[in-house]
Amino acid sequence: MYFVVTGKNSYLSSKELKLFGFDSFKRISKNILLIDSYNPDDLDKLGGVIKYGKIISFDQIKNYLNNKDIIGTNSKTFGLKLKKTFGIKKFKLIQPENTDLEVKNHGKEFLFFEDKVLLVEGYQKIDLYETIDYQKPSRGMKVGMMPSKLAHIMINLCTGSATGQVETIYDPFVGFGTTGFVANYFGYNFLGSDINTTPAKQNLSFWKQTDYYKNMQFTLFKNDVKTPFEKKFLNNVDCIVTEGWLGPVINNNTTQKMLTKNHEDIYNLYNAFLQNISKFYDNICMVFCFPIYSKMTNYGFGVLNKLEKGNMEFDFEKLGKPYKRDGQLVGRQIILAKK
Ligand SMILES: C[S@@+](CC[C@H](N)C(=O)[O-])C[C@H]1O[C@@H](n2cnc3c(N)ncnc32)[C@H](O)[C@@H]1O
Repeated sequence: MYFVVTGKNSYLSSKELKLFGFDSFKRISKNILLIDSYNPDDLDKLGGVIKYGKIISFDQIKNYLNNKDIIGTNSKTFGLKLKKTFGIKKFKLIQPENTDLEVKNHGKEFLFFEDKVLLVEGYQKIDLYETIDYQKPSRGMKVGMMPSKLAHIMINLCTGSATGQVETIYDPFVGFGTTGFVANYFGYNFLGSDINTTPAKQNLSFWKQTDYYKNMQFTLFKNDVKTPFEKKFLNNVDCIVTEGWLGPVINNNTTQKMLTKNHEDIYNLYNAFLQNISKFYDNICMVFCFPIYSKMTNYGFGVLNKLEKGNMEFDFEKLGKPYKRDGQLVGRQIILAKK
């Protein structure tokens, strides 16, 4: 038997797992799922899986121990038992949902849950995420920072839901280029547009110099999503994956009136955008974010429902709860829209 540790938004992780063929599983804790088929190459492609591996017996642990290894585990009692039984010198305590780089790169990790020993065999692409999120030269809180891990999950949710082979992904609100870098890494060609392509251009030179860049295409052009789509090369697009525009930065002083106005502006922009997409494509699969305000009555879902009702040619699916860190005022409701 095998297991995966999923991210905080377990709905998105479960959906992604299902789309990649891991549909037979049981939950043993909030974030740990048992799966009965195992394909490390496929698990390695998932953004919502933090770590994965197989269930082993306590006796089998000795087969995986090496004197030089740094041992990680989630349970102090279990760590002490490893010390007593196998003579390991020390262990590091690690929460299942955290990745300890020392243990990942130079050690072994055993989780202990419900009397089961879980040997970790693979980890999320934390080095890739950190390079994209923290090393790209152009970044900025004002425009919002989409974690590359979220871009990764959204790409998989879209490519997994699309009919047919996906070769090219398009982000019409490309911003800093995050979606494009992740798409390139996973083998997709990428088209990105924005009313301001300067940040993405600056980051693209950096991206091409990293070890993660493998010569996939990355094309940038200037475009306002409110204007009709015309470019012929947009016919090559198989999936649209975009964070979109989340509105002006808000803080604790932002009033309900201002939030309502922001949502109305965002609605108008997205509505024009969806209509342009619909006119241009007969069939398209799209994953995008809609901002949800934690301080707003009904979190602003009313505007999202209005957007859905006004664009019935798309099948809308709200994917789980909004993606948001504790204390954040704006959450991202992930939406799958198919035409
Ligand atoms: C939140 S940022 C996207 C950031 C991007 N997901 C990233 O992490 O690199 C939103 C982007 O939408 C762009 N934008 C706003 N209105 C637009 C419009 N009408 N047409 C095209 N892009 C627009 C902004 O210039 C900004 O770059």
